[in-house]
Amino acid sequence: MSNFDLLIRNGTIATAADTFKADVGVKAGRIVSLGEDLGSGEREIDATGKLVLPGGVEGHCHIEQISSSGVMTADDFYSGTVAAVFGGTTTVIPFAAQQKGDSLRQTVEAYHECAGPKAVIDYGFHLIISDPTPQVIGQELPAMIKDGITSFKVYMTYDDLRLDDYQMLDVLSAARRDGAMVMVHAENHDMIRWLSEKLLDGGHWQPQYHAVSHSRAGEGEAAHRAIALSRLMDQPILVVHVSSEEAMDEIRLAQNKGLKIFAETCPQYLFLTADDLKRDGMDGAMFCCSPPPRSDKDQEAMWRGLANGTFSVFSSDHAPYRFDESGKLAAGPEPTFKKIANGVPGIELRLPLLFSEGVGKGRIDLNRFVALTATNVAKLYGLAPQKGTIAVGSDADIAIWDPDLEQTIEHAMLHDNVGYTPYAGIKIKGWPTTVVSRGRVVVENDTLNAERGSGQYLPRAVSEASKPLGRLEPEMDPDRNFGAELLGR
Ligand code: URP
Ligand code: ZN
Ligand code: ZN
Repeated sequence: MSNFDLLIRNGTIATAADTFKADVGVKAGRIVSLGEDLGSGEREIDATGKLVLPGGVEGHCHIEQISSSGVMTADDFYSGTVAAVFGGTTTVIPFAAQQKGDSLRQTVEAYHECAGPKAVIDYGFHLIISDPTPQVIGQELPAMIKDGITSFKVYMTYDDLRLDDYQMLDVLSAARRDGAMVMVHAENHDMIRWLSEKLLDGGHWQPQYHAVSHSRAGEGEAAHRAIALSRLMDQPILVVHVSSEEAMDEIRLAQNKGLKIFAETCPQYLFLTADDLKRDGMDGAMFCCSPPPRSDKDQEAMWRGLANGTFSVFSSDHAPYRFDESGKLAAGPEPTFKKIANGVPGIELRLPLLFSEGVGKGRIDLNRFVALTATNVAKLYGLAPQKGTIAVGSDADIAIWDPDLEQTIEHAMLHDNVGYTPYAGIKIKGWPTTVVSRGRVVVENDTLNAERGSGQYLPRAVSEASKPLGRLEPEMDPDRNFGAELLGR
């Protein structure tokens, strides 16, 4: 009689803290034993020469979501989660996006209907707050947080999504009351608007001008402002998809002052530059995302930030639009850069790209790789220790990597529904060849063994990371000022 449903033998395990040789015993979907000579499993996998890593946790992806320009993403919960799992990710947290006028409950219920029948791996939801009415701030957000949606994204730009500073303070104050994490898209809206108008007036409409209109100065300014709002409210934030050295420096400065400012960067800021938007004809549209890819110098800065801890998480910001009239070219065959749906795909390549260029080239070590792609994400978003690590009691979400497998990226090897990859032609070494989700071997020999709808919804706890520092600005200090009133206590 076997002791385990699944036994992974002879592999090298890496967590965010340690690397060691051990076998992994799995029962009823969870890791129940780590050690030597564990006995036998109903199913056994020999991981000799392989790395046994926690399945990735994808904290920033857009799946089955309508863009701010009204275009539906190419990936639904089936193709999006299938692509994720083939790339070694076993948990995704996409966005239930509130449209102006909608209640948060409606938004979330509709999103559950999209996800439930299709997801093949486990998933939670963030919320995008685009309409922070008193009802939303006072009643709906607290109810959502209680229901396990413990993080929201707010935008400082995009006509239909952006919040002004006053509204951002309202959201931060609601987050503070109930312990939620606020993710911030930090770009200065009026700088983008002004530059875009002047560029278009001058006849500069091609994709490459998207990168010009989203300046480093505008990203740096908005990051600085978001940090000031977070400081006033004494409420942590996570600045998402940081692309420029300028924004990163603002974040590092705040962190050095002891503020709880977390940050994320993405593959497009390590592997692409603004020159990619200059490719022939409309091809540059495939690389249009916000903030845009920048320069070699910014790329080096992002690598530095990944290594030195400025960035806690590495996400794909998978925002998949096909390069045709259903996606990037929905506004016509030659739309101005303002009319191109923003975003690039990357959910399947997030881990292999970082592994190959980061771990493989010695820029980060294996433990930092695990922290950035799984453990820290689970911790920041209230999923630890169930997800994001290899430990007794955690879900058996495991990616077994062949660290020596060499491939040249082409879209044909991927499983999304996008039709192109911005990373085509890049040579990578290392790939997660076997993937286990809650004890099920879901990817093996390039084949998927998971039913549609077999992923489970994950209500999330509030995280330690989103708790205030308890270090109030003098103006907010209840002992000296009106702080108690201002903070709604
Ligand atoms: O261009 C991007 N990143 N599109 C997706 C939406 C967002 O702001 O993350
Ligand atoms: Zn964003
Ligand atoms: Zn995004």
